[in-house]
Amino acid sequence: MKKMIAATIVIVAGLFLLDLVLGQKTDRRSLEYLPDMARSFAYKAESPNPHFANGQTQQNPVIGTVARGLKPLHFGSSVEESKRAGEELSNPFGGQTSESLDRGKKMYQVYCQPCHGAGGQGDGPVAKRGYPAPPSLLLDNARSMKDGQLFHIITYGYKNMPSYNAQIERPDRWFTVAYVRKLQETQP
Ligand code: HEC
Repeated sequence: MKKMIAATIVIVAGLFLLDLVLGQKTDRRSLEYLPDMARSFAYKAESPNPHFANGQTQQNPVIGTVARGLKPLHFGSSVEESKRAGEELSNPFGGQTSESLDRGKKMYQVYCQPCHGAGGQGDGPVAKRGYPAPPSLLLDNARSMKDGQLFHIITYGYKNMPSYNAQIERPDRWFTVAYVRKLQETQP
């Protein structure tokens, strides 16, 4: 019996001591075992860094860096430049295939239809709520634009229309152009 009581006292005292050493304190963190997994020595991309002159860890790419697989576009955003793009650029995917039209339709429905309307007539819900209504894509003006100019308009925007460069990847812009052509062909 005495042995049991002694053992209980030792265990309780041991737990008490353990709590004293490892227990949660409001003014300091509890002990961490092998903390270098969670808190590595490497600098995080967004953290300050004393080793670079500009104090940042993440450095800008060298001027003139080109993303793999993307040829840079050398155009301005003016209407004249969109016409030049019409002369100089052509659809690298060769126009309308069923895949390009499927994809182009999806892109059109998400990014163009809100203003230009499902049929391209400039009657989308955004235009109906006060945004300057775009001209119909079925009129001669848009029909006479070359594929490269439509691509330029999506990439750089056009007068009142914002650029969709950041939202639509380059191949998808060409598929959208193919779908606009399809709309123009199937509607008088
Ligand atoms: C926020 C509304 C809005 C969205 C979204 C939008 N546009 Fe436009 N778009 C306009 C407006 C407004 C104009 C007319 C610009 C002007 O003349 O001031 C226009 C003009 C155009 C023109 C020139 C038409 C002409 O005859 O002058 C084309 C082509 C065009 N948009 C294609 C697209 C395509 C393709 C998309 C989808 C990727 C798209 N737009 C998305 C508002 C929009």
